[in-house]
Amino acid sequence: CGIVGCTGNHEALPTLLKGLEKLEYRGYDSAGVYVNGGDAGDFLVRQQGRVALLEEATKGKGITGTAGIAHTRWATHGGVSVENAHPHCSEDGRFYLVHNGVIENYDELRDTYLQGVTLHSETDTEIAVQLIDKFAKEDELSTLDAFRKMISLLDNNSAYGFLLMDRQTPDLLYTAKKKSPLLIGISDDGNVVTSDAAAMLDVTQYFIELMDGEVAVISKTNVALYNETGDSVSREPFYLDIDASETDKGVYPYYMLKEVDEQAIVARTLSQYYFDDNGQVINIDQSIIDRIKQADRLYIVAAGTSYHAGLVGKRYFEQWTGKPTEVHISSEFAYDQPLLSKKPFFIFLSQSGETADSREVLDNVVKQGYPSLTMANVLNSTLTREADFALPLLAGPEIAVASTKAYTAQVIVEAILAHAIGDSGLDLKHELAKVAVEMQVITDQKDQFKVIAEDALHDRHSAFYIGRGLDAAVAVESALKLKEISYVQTEGFAAGELKHGTISLIEDGTPVFALLTQSKTAGLVRGEISQVAARGANTIVIASQSLAKPGDAYLLPDVNELLMPLLAVIPTQLIAYYATLDRGLDVDRPRNLAKSVTVQ
Ligand code: G6P
Repeated sequence: CGIVGCTGNHEALPTLLKGLEKLEYRGYDSAGVYVNGGDAGDFLVRQQGRVALLEEATKGKGITGTAGIAHTRWATHGGVSVENAHPHCSEDGRFYLVHNGVIENYDELRDTYLQGVTLHSETDTEIAVQLIDKFAKEDELSTLDAFRKMISLLDNNSAYGFLLMDRQTPDLLYTAKKKSPLLIGISDDGNVVTSDAAAMLDVTQYFIELMDGEVAVISKTNVALYNETGDSVSREPFYLDIDASETDKGVYPYYMLKEVDEQAIVARTLSQYYFDDNGQVINIDQSIIDRIKQADRLYIVAAGTSYHAGLVGKRYFEQWTGKPTEVHISSEFAYDQPLLSKKPFFIFLSQSGETADSREVLDNVVKQGYPSLTMANVLNSTLTREADFALPLLAGPEIAVASTKAYTAQVIVEAILAHAIGDSGLDLKHELAKVAVEMQVITDQKDQFKVIAEDALHDRHSAFYIGRGLDAAVAVESALKLKEISYVQTEGFAAGELKHGTISLIEDGTPVFALLTQSKTAGLVRGEISQVAARGANTIVIASQSLAKPGDAYLLPDVNELLMPLLAVIPTQLIAYYATLDRGLDVDRPRNLAKSVTVQ
């Protein structure tokens, strides 16, 4: 979900709609806006589907006013409908509220406090706004106090980013957060609130971070912050060093294609950035290295594509530092923590730095007193702030829902860190520079992947990616990429495991993409390719040049074998991209998915 709000000297509607457009990439299923028009009245417009449809629906309504709030919703409580879209409004039309997160005890709050109130949606958010209204009326509380009282009733597991307006204080925004990101943007022309700085970069690059439990009241010239006990808090804005143009598509038809191409730049930047002329890592804080050296086991915790980057990184940590390394899915680890070693060290991998599942694990880890490091792409994100240490991925803003350059940046930073702790025996700076050059070579051959994708996947409903070792790790990421955007049901498999059951799914023409970059197991994988080919599969082999055989579909340039995942993943990203285009689907905005999942 996404939140934007503004109060200032100009019409609010264009700023709010533009902000929502910038949030579109995060994934949503409905959107809505509220503008307080003073004497001109209240304007509430909600719509299922795209922001463009919301914009259309706002036309001709004479919407005017200099303060408002808006939201993109990714359904949690209650299905996708106009009634469930935000903003939600109190019964008498006084309060308007947007919310990211989940109120766990909403049933109980409704039954205790809202008997007799007619609810118009199935959402937990409507309960919150009706409670504010009730407390303001019946307890004669100020808006701020009614807002705070509502928040005080939410149970501990609830997560929220709230943005509230009261038609009796037309130019004020009330906001609060817990476990859900919210920033207050400051400008000479007014102030804004957003769940993602990217949405408001056209207005300002100065932001004040709201901390968990805090509440803020914002006018066009002032920001008042209060802590949980109601005392005022002062905090200076920070300058966010992102150019608004970095979040534009430029000449590309889709963000995903731009971000696939940017991987070569990211690899080059990272190879320059971390090493001095002697090939030594210079700018990883020595205290991070020391703490990891003291650990007896590393635990990498992540979700989605970041989890897959962890599967590759495990190899670097084990081979170069000699530390046993486990990789875990955060939503599993959070509620079924495995038996830990005596001196664990936790590494959180995340593009957004906001994934609620990972945040839950970090919370637990901090409570247990274990040391932690977050590697995230979004600087200043929750996971980077709350871990003991942080390392930036430096991939630049990633907008497409399907993660590409954040994955490769994670793999590179894992390699650099493992090299800094132990000894890779490689001139890693040089090797990474080579990777960057070869990435560029691969991304320059897009036409080949378009042909492969269209030939193999045009009318197929299922597909497989197989490989062994590091190629198996890349296979699961490749499968995720293809299925999440093209909706072709794809499984990523350790090649040797296929014959133990799943091979029964192979039919005439089933596409099986094989990754073959690891010399130790190349012969075995060739055997597995023959096994599926003998059962009718259409095998498409992506092999490194040194392991290639006639008939292979694409040959990857050779770099150090341990770094081959950085190259092998790129054809698979492009195959996913072109298969999706071929189906006439929106590459950047797959259905049902969100870029950053801030609910558990
Ligand atoms: C969402 C995204 C995935 C991403 C995952 C983890 O599900 O759609 O692309 O890999 O979250 O996100 P993170 O920001 O923690 O890497």
